[in-house]
Amino acid sequence: MNTLSAKRLLLVVTGGIAAYKAPDVVRRLRDAGAEVRVVMTPAATAFITPLTLQAVSGHDVREGLFDPAAEAAMGHIELARWCDALVVAPASADFIARLRLGQADDLASAVCLATGAPLLLAPAMNRQMWAHPATQDNLAALRERGVAVVGPGSGSQACGEVGPGRMVEAETIVTAAGALFESGRLAGRRVVITAGPTREAIDPVRFISNHSSGKMGYAVAAAAREAGASVTLVSGPTGLEPPAGVHTVRVESALDMFAAVRAALAGCDIFIATAAVADYRPAQAAAGKIKRDGETRTLELVPNPDILASVAALTPAPFTVGFAAETHDVEAYARAKLERKGIDMIAANLVGEGDVGFNSDDNELLVLWRDGEQRLERAPKTRLARTLVELVAARYAAAR
Ligand code: C5P
Repeated sequence: MNTLSAKRLLLVVTGGIAAYKAPDVVRRLRDAGAEVRVVMTPAATAFITPLTLQAVSGHDVREGLFDPAAEAAMGHIELARWCDALVVAPASADFIARLRLGQADDLASAVCLATGAPLLLAPAMNRQMWAHPATQDNLAALRERGVAVVGPGSGSQACGEVGPGRMVEAETIVTAAGALFESGRLAGRRVVITAGPTREAIDPVRFISNHSSGKMGYAVAAAAREAGASVTLVSGPTGLEPPAGVHTVRVESALDMFAAVRAALAGCDIFIATAAVADYRPAQAAAGKIKRDGETRTLELVPNPDILASVAALTPAPFTVGFAAETHDVEAYARAKLERKGIDMIAANLVGEGDVGFNSDDNELLVLWRDGEQRLERAPKTRLARTLVELVAARYAAAR
């Protein structure tokens, strides 16, 4: 599976002779399926033109922090939120020092400071600058904060010296960027995930359903796959492409979903219920299309099984994770649901306010478990899903 497929990467190009390799990095990241946008430092533009990087990336290249037109199109905070990961290639000694200090006096450094996405550095500099304790100290501090570093390689340098400090080749950077998304934390684990809405038939042409898009569940399935799990996604009707490498089973109603989940449960380690399952279904679906006759009609509804609670009640049960969409008092309702359903973890979000939650690309979650909680700040669902999967993996490991 290619982990860079459909990922949104921000390439930050800083000032150094290795900037001439940046177009090749962009091209290869795109070949691997990523969407790439480029930010350059002012110094980088002395080595390579923005036009070249615009041509290979297919997007305008950003440089200034105070360009009103560019900020109106996609502000630096939006850019920081847009990306799934940042790759700084080449990363100059100066830029590394500024990153360590948390400076934000140009667009490139501001975006690095404003993002919650993982960061990969491909350093490139003169061997003396590389070996200097200041640079090594800066890199050690950044590694400590979770920043990934690839290279540098060793060999003859543009300055005529020989030693470590050459930026690694584009292909190596692409591999390292892919590794940012592969934690391997769920290697060998089987994960079953429900997603999307269900449709409860009234007659052959009508149904009861809801606005769930399935985006969160599909993102969780992709993230669990990237974390090394073998994943079955049981999905209600959505317009989404099944995630690569995930066994996807399509269903319509809550009863179909329940049957498909039961069939997938053998050997399941973790069950994550993101589906917006209809609580009720018509007691009887009419065999033929119901005709209009001007009369008042009453639809009798019967409760659907609670799939999540049923899975949690199994012995042995997999590690169970539920979702809760609430319009108010999120924490109290979610904690009550955690208890009532007897599940291990619940991810709660506020719906009906602003542009997060149902049908949106962004979300924010409050994740609760019996003796703890963690807030996952607003982010695109794809990134949020990766953080959630890491948290699920950690709690699953702790619970075993
Ligand atoms: O009770 P409520 O619908 O708010 O609970 C939401 C959680 O329970 C979600 O994780 C949802 O996928 C799951 N659920 C379920 N089967 C149902 C109803 C909800 O699995 N019939």
